[in-house]
Amino acid sequence: MAVDWEALRTAATEVSTRAYAPYSRFHVGAAGLADDGRLLVGCNVENAGYGVTLCAECGLVSSLHATGGGRLTHVVCVNGAGEVIMPCGRCRQILFEAGGARLELMTPEGVKTMDEVLPLAFGPDDLAAAEGA
Ligand code: THU
Repeated sequence: MAVDWEALRTAATEVSTRAYAPYSRFHVGAAGLADDGRLLVGCNVENAGYGVTLCAECGLVSSLHATGGGRLTHVVCVNGAGEVIMPCGRCRQILFEAGGARLELMTPEGVKTMDEVLPLAFGPDDLAAAEGA
């Protein structure tokens, strides 16, 4: 079934309005679909200890697990103006764990897979390989 990317983007834009970003004033919204069709969202939550800021993708993945788990299949991240942005490096790693190499991500250059935006990713398979060695 075709994915309604515009609906995902709208959900991301809506949740970006609830971002807590008093320090950077850079609001981020993330929306994704789970493999059972659930729509999940997250927004960034900053902290006076700047380094412990939670990115929007962290909220999205937390919501995935809090509402039943599964695998993320499609994700969009936007800024406060509703423009598609790329997840930061740390969040690509977080999304890789939650969606695997096949997760589809809307980027400013169109839809790409996690494999394309985080090539040669370290993931669960690497730990399993080490256990078997
Ligand atoms: N931010 C995210 O929420 N996700 C990203 O992938 C990039 C950055 C947030 C963190 C911080 O609150 C603000 O954007 C500026 O870096």
